[in-house]
Amino acid sequence: MEFFEYSNNELMCEGVRVKDIVSEVGSPAYIYSKKAFIDGYNEIKTAFQEADPLICFSVKSNSNLSVLSALANAGSGFDVVSGGELFRALKVGANPEKIVYAGVGKSSGEIKYALENNILMFNVESWAELQSINKIASQLDKKAQVAIRINPDVDAKTHSKTTTGKKENKFGIDMATAERIISESSKYANVAITGIHVHLGSPIHDTKPYEKGLEKVNQFLPKCKANGVDIKYLNIGGGYCISYTGKNEIRPKDYAAKTMGLIKKTGCKLIMEPGRFISGNAGIMVTKVIYKKQNDIGKKFVICDAGMNDLLRPALYDANHRIWPVSTHVQMPKVEGGGEKGCCGAKMLKKLIVEVALQEKKPIDFYNDLEVVDVVGPVCESSDVFAKDRPLPRVDENELLAIFSAGAYGFTMSSPYNSRPRPCEVLVDGSRFDVVRKRETYDDLIALENI
Ligand code: LLP
Repeated sequence: MEFFEYSNNELMCEGVRVKDIVSEVGSPAYIYSKKAFIDGYNEIKTAFQEADPLICFSVKSNSNLSVLSALANAGSGFDVVSGGELFRALKVGANPEKIVYAGVGKSSGEIKYALENNILMFNVESWAELQSINKIASQLDKKAQVAIRINPDVDAKTHSKTTTGKKENKFGIDMATAERIISESSKYANVAITGIHVHLGSPIHDTKPYEKGLEKVNQFLPKCKANGVDIKYLNIGGGYCISYTGKNEIRPKDYAAKTMGLIKKTGCKLIMEPGRFISGNAGIMVTKVIYKKQNDIGKKFVICDAGMNDLLRPALYDANHRIWPVSTHVQMPKVEGGGEKGCCGAKMLKKLIVEVALQEKKPIDFYNDLEVVDVVGPVCESSDVFAKDRPLPRVDENELLAIFSAGAYGFTMSSPYNSRPRPCEVLVDGSRFDVVRKRETYDDLIALENI
């Protein structure tokens, strides 16, 4: 989160006061640091430099054109999962030879679009899809390059809704079927199987699942060779974690240290598909407090102008995002207790008070400054909650709150549910900022409808 820091009681994004941005663009707003994306890209590239990886930024995590353009200029390729994402990548002038295309349900229209634009390869997720790619490639008189996405049945120990590498998940091809495909590959004249792809889920907080996945790949490669299938590319997917709490997490160099031997053993060119690691802590969402209320069991609610339609992760995955006022004299603790899911209550409040007091090196009566609240949105759903029983500095109506780590799967998963126009997106670069996606209007909400 180092690109979002407090200075003189004000949250800054790079060289700009967040408060100043919001007073110009309004609330709620997504605010991104350009440098954070580029730093994340460089960190992962450097960590794996021994394998000279092709980094394909996962567009689903943040698909804003200005973000994609900045990353393309830094040399990034792209991992896309739909014709729409491919369209976005091509729009910013991405090199098609650095685009890989995953997803279990590529339509024939999407396959045709990708072939016509000469992308590097498809990550194929079923036998039926392979046949479809072969047929469309033959109609276009092309040879499609593909990687077989294997499902190695490895538990990445992520949230059940973001696990992809177990047998019961819809993703990838089980090892036995993958072997059969390889042994019959010569039947597909318009397809060249040149890669193996494996993506286990996200976020993965341990190197072990990657090691297990790579071991399975290394067991599989000799079978490809025996069938005359020359595998040149190894795509190890994404899933690299970030810190949502301020607590230290493993970093790309740690994943690299544990996996480089297994990667080199494959003898393949490495492709990686990081999303969250590059975009997660490159963005925040700012929301304004509309009302506060307390009920007769003493529960306090801070009601904001952003809702689950703007940032879905807490409602969908019980995800914990740190929240702190944009302008406050109370220092945000370096680490928030409670872990991935957050938590709280009085115990946590006490812990937080001690931490803040220690950091500020003064004995403080923070009971006056902090209160335990539920931070909620205006959407008509009980799951429209950003944080439950969370100790926060006392805030009043019209004050701004920053919801951290919102750069990945924030705006991209937003919707206009409850007919709420979606927030604007702002990109900060040093001491300047630009609105890189306008706030939606009521007219935008109905623009495609006929009466
Ligand atoms: N490659 C493939 C094939 C993927 O399916 C994904 C993510 C990635 C790469 C990038 O994963 P990352 O590096 O960002 O972890 N909406 C959820 C995450 C779903 C991820 C889906 N696939 C969330 O908000 O946590």
